[in-house]
Amino acid sequence: MKLDAANDAAVRSAAQHLAQGELVAFATETVYGLGARADDDEAVAKIYALKGRPVDHPLIVHVHHAQAAATFAAALPSPALRLMQTCWPGPLTVIVKRREGMATAAAAGQSTIGLRCPAHPAAQALLREAQALGVAGVAAPSANRFGRISPTTAQHVIDDFGSGLIVLDGGPCDLGIESAIVDVSRERPALLRPGAWSLAELQRRSGVTIDPTPGTHAPRASGTLEAHYAPQAKLRLMDSQTLTSALEVLGNEGLATLAVYSRSARGPRRGTKLRRMPDDARAAAQELFSVLRELDASGVTLIWVEQPPEGHEWDGVRDRLQRAAAST
Ligand code: TXA
Ligand code: MG
Repeated sequence: MKLDAANDAAVRSAAQHLAQGELVAFATETVYGLGARADDDEAVAKIYALKGRPVDHPLIVHVHHAQAAATFAAALPSPALRLMQTCWPGPLTVIVKRREGMATAAAAGQSTIGLRCPAHPAAQALLREAQALGVAGVAAPSANRFGRISPTTAQHVIDDFGSGLIVLDGGPCDLGIESAIVDVSRERPALLRPGAWSLAELQRRSGVTIDPTPGTHAPRASGTLEAHYAPQAKLRLMDSQTLTSALEVLGNEGLATLAVYSRSARGPRRGTKLRRMPDDARAAAQELFSVLRELDASGVTLIWVEQPPEGHEWDGVRDRLQRAAAST
């Protein structure tokens, strides 16, 4: 059931459902989340069951403001504080040491916890109302079935889970790919997942030096699995030359079951579904999951995608496409 996030009574009702231990999906500026109160292990278990997510993959806990982070963190070292002060509310998840006994199921028993303060007014309103009802944090993974494409509209969530689930509808997500994850629980802050904001932007805002490669000690994180974000169709990533030649040699039967998402491919040859990828990394991120879902739903068996350009601002999009290609 969709609830309009612009309606105060609807937000209050969504918060009450959360407070009672029920699941509520909600808009954030990155992707839609599937939320449960973080202090209730039984409520959190419903997220894992509904998503089909392995129970050893930790969830991010969403908080209304930076002060609430202290409820869940054992310590907030200065890089953590700086990141929170300069990037929150916003598309950044900070991994810190977890306060013992707090949000155990949400953290999948790990000694660390991922915290994020989302900027979207719908998420902000929901977290504020929930907090007023005694809910300090809301555990929420992306609101898609495990391993599939993340949702950027309320309809995407309903497409995955049906209309029985409450979805706080805040319109299409502005950023379109998930938050960057920075682990500050280790000696040197490290990027575990590139996100909607580039590494350069996070460093510029916060002044914190972030190691771009997590190394071998990164805890298990489904957004960091090599294969993820899978459409039903087979997704192939190619440079523009390879894509052009492949299109030239493809016969007519092939074309009928093919979709292309590219910045440079010319066409469309008759029968090809061609979507133009924006030249701007932010615009590409904003539409990425929506385009993949749409192409997938059109019944094609192949999706050929042109490699995004070099450059850090494309890291998030490149990362999601590589994982989608690895899964199919
Ligand atoms: O933008 C986002 O981050 C969205 C919205 C809903 O906030 N959420 C999201 O959640 O992308 P999810 O569960 O799809 O991805 C969260 C990632 C997973 O890869 C998870 O394993 C990792 O964060 N993660 C969570 N807690 C962690 C921890 N303590 N240590 C390492 N990784 C962690
Ligand atoms: Mg996810």
